[in-house]
Amino acid sequence: MQIRPLRLGHLLLPSNVLMAPLAGYTCYPFRMLAYEMGAGLCFTEMVSANALKYQDRATKRLLFTTEEEPIKAVQLLGGIPAVMEQMAASELLAEFSVLDINMGCPVPNVFKSGEGSALMLDRKRAAAIIRGCKKSGKIVTVKCRTGIQEDEMFTAEFARLCEAAGADMITIHGRSRSMMYDGRPYEREMELAKAAVSIPVIANGGIFSVEAAERMLSQTGADGVMIARYGLEHPFIFKELTGKACEKSPLEVVTEQIDLANRYYEETFVLAYIKKLASYMMKGRKGTKQYKERLHGSGSLAELREAVELIFGEGTG
Ligand SMILES: Cc1cc2nc3c(=O)[nH]c(=O)nc-3n(C[C@H](O)[C@H](O)[C@H](O)COP(=O)(O)O)c2cc1C
Repeated sequence: MQIRPLRLGHLLLPSNVLMAPLAGYTCYPFRMLAYEMGAGLCFTEMVSANALKYQDRATKRLLFTTEEEPIKAVQLLGGIPAVMEQMAASELLAEFSVLDINMGCPVPNVFKSGEGSALMLDRKRAAAIIRGCKKSGKIVTVKCRTGIQEDEMFTAEFARLCEAAGADMITIHGRSRSMMYDGRPYEREMELAKAAVSIPVIANGGIFSVEAAERMLSQTGADGVMIARYGLEHPFIFKELTGKACEKSPLEVVTEQIDLANRYYEETFVLAYIKKLASYMMKGRKGTKQYKERLHGSGSLAELREAVELIFGEGTG
């Protein structure tokens, strides 16, 4: 079994099963859940360096964390080396010991602005951003894809560039930008990248079961795996992979998420977040139409709790 603790810079992550950054989902409560279930490292969703620079309120909320979060890792999105360097070292990110640079986002607006996966095409700028962020003294990691087009991938070469610029770890989403979120990830590309560098390489993409995670590790030789959508669908995947003891039921999990979110966020956020999370956790279940209507029709926390009890309560799983 290749599940084990993972060294990352001066940190020893409790496991090499990581939770991916997911915009709209990986807020503080969800990260706490993933850590509790055995995830070795969890990231905030991507935070725009430009928005942060202008102290955008909604953006600052994405950075919310507390002393309780075991390891604090932020993901930064940006294409201007000077801004990235400045934000990496800024007081706003002082609490975060790990900084991940988003070099994988495929979204057209992001790509056109020279951010996310566009950085894979501009190696000089990518390297300058890594070097600049490293000056903050944080552990700097990179999350990228296998390339831009499926017929022209250059994962190993890009991994080497990241390592040479000072990255402490690289996570590869094994799909090209053109594949967006579908299609089988290229294990061979990840394997070549792993063989090309000595920093830890994490394999991501298409892991929707314990077996898929194990296969990914053995096929790629990667140092760890990163789970994304399946972590929302089935947060128990982390304990199933790591063997961490945690006997909570889906109802307990969602109820605790409501409580934790309610402690720190306003009601509209809690409602939106729990509706999205519960929808993911219902995936694959049949006959959920009336439950979904109840969930999405909830206009208050009390109604939300009732809907969640109905959906995840005994006998409904
Ligand atoms: C709703 C959604 C939001 C995402 N947000 C981010 C993000 O903020 N930063 C990032 O690096 N990747 C983001 N991703 C990509 C995932 O982290 C991951 O690389 C991708 O979903 C592939 O993994 P999977 O096949 O296991 O889901 C997002 C993906 C989805 C579906």
